[in-house]
Amino acid sequence: MCGIVGYIGEVNAKEILLKGLEKLEYRGYDSAGIALYDTSAQVVNVFKEKGRIATLRESIPSNMDGTAGIGHTRWATHGVPNKRNAHPHRSADGRFTLVHNGVIENYEILKNQYFANHSFTSDTDTEVIVELIAHFVQEGMEVEAAFRKGLSQLKGSYAIALIDSENPQLIYVAKAKSPLLVGVGNNCNVVASDAMAMLQVTDQFLEIMDKEIVLVTPNDVTIKTLQGDIVERAPYTAEIDASDIEKGTYPHFMLKEIDEQPGVIRNIIREYQDQDGNILVDEAIRSAIADADRINIIACGTSYHAGLVGKQMIENLAQIPVEVHLASEFSYNMPLLTKKPLFLFISQSGETADSRAVLVRVKELGYPALTLTNVSGSTISREADYTMLLHAGPEIAVASTKAYTAQIAVLAILAVDSARGKGMNPSFDLARELGLVANAMDVLCHAKEDFEAIATEFLATTRNAFFIGRSVDYYVVLEAALKLKEISYIQAEGFAGGELKHGTIALIEEGTPVVALSTQEGTNLNIRGNVKEVVARGANACVIASKGLEMDGDRFIIPRVHELFTPLASIVPMQLIAYYAALHRGCDVDKPRNLAKSVTVE
Ligand code: AGP
Repeated sequence: MCGIVGYIGEVNAKEILLKGLEKLEYRGYDSAGIALYDTSAQVVNVFKEKGRIATLRESIPSNMDGTAGIGHTRWATHGVPNKRNAHPHRSADGRFTLVHNGVIENYEILKNQYFANHSFTSDTDTEVIVELIAHFVQEGMEVEAAFRKGLSQLKGSYAIALIDSENPQLIYVAKAKSPLLVGVGNNCNVVASDAMAMLQVTDQFLEIMDKEIVLVTPNDVTIKTLQGDIVERAPYTAEIDASDIEKGTYPHFMLKEIDEQPGVIRNIIREYQDQDGNILVDEAIRSAIADADRINIIACGTSYHAGLVGKQMIENLAQIPVEVHLASEFSYNMPLLTKKPLFLFISQSGETADSRAVLVRVKELGYPALTLTNVSGSTISREADYTMLLHAGPEIAVASTKAYTAQIAVLAILAVDSARGKGMNPSFDLARELGLVANAMDVLCHAKEDFEAIATEFLATTRNAFFIGRSVDYYVVLEAALKLKEISYIQAEGFAGGELKHGTIALIEEGTPVVALSTQEGTNLNIRGNVKEVVARGANACVIASKGLEMDGDRFIIPRVHELFTPLASIVPMQLIAYYAALHRGCDVDKPRNLAKSVTVE
């Protein structure tokens, strides 16, 4: 979703800002802009364009430069994606320039209250912020006081960077609910939604807490509360390997990240198990699970699908009841809770606003919360009581792949550890089984030609597709359908095989592609029966089965792994089929339309 960068220092800010924005492209955006303070002309110039950063870059005169600036990638919420609504936004008096990430819920009220006769130049909720600050300054306030007063009027979420053309050696920064960091460099300082964007300048970053403001100059960073009290905070080192955020020889991040999955699983084994086979989970997490009478998993999208698989593993191995909830539903339709629930948040980014909203509610109610995330220090990690990291490395493609398998692998570890905690030692060696999964993933990643052929045969021209499975395969096909629709725009549905006949089978017609997954002995014959039902009605069926369950006519055989962990292997063909379907249809695989990597608005 929207991304923010800022630089203040001694060198060419333009290139740093543009490169920073390019690093934030993965978050999803539809327009971009920068504001640069031109030192010689002593003015702040604003450049913005609809579309890609490459278009923005072309629109900026090559001789344009400055040593201070802010930049933004916008993912439209209020107002269509166009140049007028793109950030930065400037106050009508021309003095202040601002970029914003988040949603100001009371912007209409503020407009009516303060600017009844003012005509705004954009349809955004953002413009009112910069006008508010300018308004308070015009009333006689110092800029910092006006900034704080402006922020205190806002309801909703924001990450903000502001430049005052009369004092361009200072960037005003603030956040509430939306992510934002300040980076500390040598004779320069930076601002970024994500440390990745500014690794080119520094790896030293300062967290900003909600309702704090930060005054950033080339040589100083001062954090204050909204009341004006100074806050002391030491920077941390962002441990991101710069090569992790490059594509290398891969045409797309998605393909690179699919191929990284065997390594991620091996890495997770190393992180969570010592050489004697002891699982390494914090004692505090163990007691929180032991104390719980139910685990409520809260997540969105792909992470929700991982949660469904997690439920099956935890209930099966540790005999703890688990419910899985869509975060966006839970907040507004809370189920009856048990006496001692534990909340388990699954979020690759750790910034998803829907999940965070539930976390805030859960903390208000006083329940314990554990976060599984890929991003240490992310909001949902910081605000929960406990965190388990996915150790998957940065995931850049909007379509989540390695984070999904990492989530399931960490859930498997949690399930086995919880089972052991209850004296129910599973009969298998977890590290060995996950090692076999990693080997199976290697085999699958080397079978790309087969999956490309399946994509060509079944999905080249179709408008829709069905994925069916039973038991845990049903959870996997939900994820398979999501992968296909988000990157190829084919209307895809994941369905429980047995449920088709209760309505959805009406959609099957001559040539409708139906991909069926069969990895479970207990449901192999049932799903085969469902395949027959759709084939009898003209479907073009593609069966993918585990070794040992295969039958004549199956299109691909997955190496056999432990039945509980099949989702880790069986999703790989689905990811690759989606990838090739999208590629052949000419879609922008890594940056699908309308989508954002980090969904920071509810
Ligand atoms: C998956 O490919 C999507 N990008 C999306 O469904 C994602 O999983 C969802 O938005 C949740 O994100 P999170 O894991 O960062 O919370």
